[in-house]
Amino acid sequence: MSTVVLDNVSKVYPGGVLAVDRMNLRANEGELLVLLGPSGCGKSTLLRMIAGLEEITSGDLWLNGEIANGMPPRDRNVAMVFQNGALYPHRTVRGNLAFPLEIAKADPNLVRDRVTELSRALRIDETLDRRPGTLSGGQRQRVAMGRAIVRQPSLFLMDEPLSNLDAGMRTELRMEISALVRALGITTIYVTHDQVEALTLADRIAIMNRGVLQDVGTPGQIYNDPATAFVAAFLSSQQLNLVACTVRAPQNQYILLDFGAHQLTIPWSDPRAYAISQHTGQQIIVGMRPDALSPVPDTYEGATLSGRVRTLEYHGHEWLAYIEAGLPSVAAPEPPDPRGRAADLEQRNGSGGRIRAMVRRLISGPPDDDIPDHPSGSASNSGSHRRADLIVRLGARPAWRAGDGARVAVDLSRLMVFKLDGSRIDTPKR
Ligand SMILES: Nc1ncnc2c1ncn2[C@@H]1O[C@H](COP(=O)(O)OP(=O)(O)O)[C@@H](O)[C@H]1O
Ligand SMILES: [Mg+2]
Repeated sequence: MSTVVLDNVSKVYPGGVLAVDRMNLRANEGELLVLLGPSGCGKSTLLRMIAGLEEITSGDLWLNGEIANGMPPRDRNVAMVFQNGALYPHRTVRGNLAFPLEIAKADPNLVRDRVTELSRALRIDETLDRRPGTLSGGQRQRVAMGRAIVRQPSLFLMDEPLSNLDAGMRTELRMEISALVRALGITTIYVTHDQVEALTLADRIAIMNRGVLQDVGTPGQIYNDPATAFVAAFLSSQQLNLVACTVRAPQNQYILLDFGAHQLTIPWSDPRAYAISQHTGQQIIVGMRPDALSPVPDTYEGATLSGRVRTLEYHGHEWLAYIEAGLPSVAAPEPPDPRGRAADLEQRNGSGGRIRAMVRRLISGPPDDDIPDHPSGSASNSGSHRRADLIVRLGARPAWRAGDGARVAVDLSRLMVFKLDGSRIDTPKR
């Protein structure tokens, strides 16, 4: 059993790459904590610092209440599994599983019992006499996991252990990892870039981008109540609709989210109304998941947006509709790049220029916007290549066909509102 505390931990690689930036995080005893984030955001670096394979540049690592920055890896009682769990090719599965115990000069009877027990739990007991070369990818990863836990470590670190497997095997092994680490009660930190893996496996998720922690919470907390637009977008299984709008409060009767061609009204009774009203006269970003939108007839009286169906996309269990609604859709704002780009921009543009540059980068439509430094060719000024700016999740039988006029009901309780820098306007309840 183990607790892990990262106190303001940073990692700068030689050459000045800031891979992890002032990370504060705690993994509780027996917890399955998933580290989630896009490729290159510093997940492996963080895991390797916890394992003692990478030096910590600044900040403190605490293992079981003890500062462990300089502790040799072998004293940490940590086991690690990588994407390609490397096995000894000339040893059988049994030999691979037994190896860490043999090195530790364990009693041969104990080795035999432990290997038998573990191979059953991992469902590789039929393969004990085979060599790794004759196993499937899924079986090899099971052996790698078995070899890591056979010594009964107090901390289990897994770095994308399923990403080389096919989808079916990934799902199967995902469930088994979950059952196994919970049955053993070993504190586990599990790295992945796959949001489904994170949501299905984790007790809590810590989500990173560019070396910076973005949000921590249970899967339900960070899915329903994300701290930033980046987190909301990263956890959306379909592309999150993000739209810029101006906040207005006509005669103080209600709050108006003004998208130009469309408006949505938020009543004062809405719990977010006060927080949004603090931005009256300013631009904000509204996030709407495709499943917070649904097709309705023209006679529908609630909050709606409307447009024309550009394309329908078949996903087997559902259809997605891509609708042109003339909304100013934006990309999820990235946190400032810790590798000096923010400072660079500031120097070049002064702060007014910096904000203009950010807004220009954010606003990806409509295409007839004048964006002077846009790569040529992709943005048309004619308006004839308008991109779809609203993605709506439909059921298995779509209500529309391409080209149809579309009216879309908006579930206002599921609107997410962000400042232009991507931070939440109504702070998450954590
Ligand atoms: N040994 C290294 N030397 C220099 N830069 C590195 C090294 N390892 C990783 N990096 C850089 O650090 C950043 C984080 O990498 P990594 O921790 O591997 O991310 P992830 O595991 O999230 O994909 C990346 O920009 C990567 O290029
Ligand atoms: Mg990695």
